[in-house]
Amino acid sequence: MTPSVTGTSPGDAPSPHEPLALYGAGFAADPHGHYRRLRAQGPLARVRIAPDIDATLVTDYHAAADLLRDTETFTKDPRAWQAGVPADSPVLPVLGHRPTALFTDGAVHARYRDAINDTLALIEPHLLRAEVVRVAQRLIAAFSATGTGDLIAQYARRLPLHVFTASFGVAPQDVERVVRGTAGMMDSGADATEAYDDLVAVVSALVHERRRRPGRDLTTYLLAHPAGLDDDEAVRQITLIMSVGHDPTTNLIGNALLRMLSDTGYGGSLHGGATTAREAVDDVLWRDPPLANLGAHFPRHDTEFHGVPLRAGQLVLVSFAAANTQSTPSVPKTAVRSGDGGHLAWSTGPHRCPAKPSALLMATTAIEELTSQLCDLRLAVEPGELVWRPGPFHRALAHLPVRFTPLDALVEADEAGARDGDDHVPIRVAGTPNG
Ligand code: HEM
Repeated sequence: MTPSVTGTSPGDAPSPHEPLALYGAGFAADPHGHYRRLRAQGPLARVRIAPDIDATLVTDYHAAADLLRDTETFTKDPRAWQAGVPADSPVLPVLGHRPTALFTDGAVHARYRDAINDTLALIEPHLLRAEVVRVAQRLIAAFSATGTGDLIAQYARRLPLHVFTASFGVAPQDVERVVRGTAGMMDSGADATEAYDDLVAVVSALVHERRRRPGRDLTTYLLAHPAGLDDDEAVRQITLIMSVGHDPTTNLIGNALLRMLSDTGYGGSLHGGATTAREAVDDVLWRDPPLANLGAHFPRHDTEFHGVPLRAGQLVLVSFAAANTQSTPSVPKTAVRSGDGGHLAWSTGPHRCPAKPSALLMATTAIEELTSQLCDLRLAVEPGELVWRPGPFHRALAHLPVRFTPLDALVEADEAGARDGDDHVPIRVAGTPNG
């Protein structure tokens, strides 16, 4: 089987259209314009996701839902496709095979997924909420006296990170490396491989340390899980959780805050509380999902799917963003908005996100805490001037500059937080994966 690299690869079914580039500043500035053009080509369309890498993108809602559940026709194992992709390709940190839940099917997938699910189940919602509030207050206190801030760099990027690194027991001096690693691999630029390798190095050191000296953290629980993961498998599941967990949660917070700050529908109600935050989050999950295009699948054999011929092993991606925003007479919103939310922002089928409740709790709590403290937040630039990060897979603001009335009093909270010492670990004390 020949993999689907570049437009004329014999591994791909032919297409009369020049593939549209889904990377770089042009795509980042207007993804929905790109999705409209792609939809005009049918339910599946050819796209270019890096200078030398093409894929087929599913933009139709029903085709996307069918593909995500069709384990007979499609595999998640990318190795046949990957055989012809340059080893230093910037998309491999996200799409390249590793022994994780994301790249496996059937019993192997179930083993990894059980270990991940049982480990994430140790996160107690009320402890998680309390920890998010605590970290949020510290982060807000660090810039609240200035009257200006970047809600991505100073808030949305740092908050999930504190929770993840504390939960898994990452040493404070390695936290910045985790930020660079997860962001670098999702940006899929020239340094993506280096970023991913460094993230793996941090997590490997952590796993080796916890084998020797168990702690009270999720790394220790994952290593003790009955699935019996070896060191590399444990490293790869943790790296997966951090990469598909941290960056999308940052972007869910950032995209929802932008929605609240730029949409007149929210005007005057920024401090309105839970409903407003949840509404903005739900709106983003429909219209600008943090993982915009992923769900990589590969046909097990030559086939026809929703009228489009596909060759065995070619890369097929799902556009959660395009599928969610499709609006045609054949896909009335009432039909789409059914079941588990209806939108595909968490994917569906066996590889759907296992952390939806935790991610929603983190995002809504983070937004509520911020908007209740800095209640006259406003954008410091026009929405059209905002810069979005490049990369085909995510919908991610580079910065979110804001202004607000400075709050001197919160500086004291920051100092109290600093005295408070280490991050707390929002997991159950009793109850290990072993019972
Ligand atoms: C607490 C934070 C999060 C954690 C720990 C987490 C973890 C995971 C894991 C382990 C998977 C792989 C599951 C499998 O293959 O069986 C996954 C998949 C997925 N997650 Fe999450 N996630 C988090 C937040 C988010 C957020 C905020 C979004 C976006 C709304 C999201 C959307 C998805 C999607 C679309 C998939 C499917 C990806 C694919 O098949 O390519 N996740 N998540």
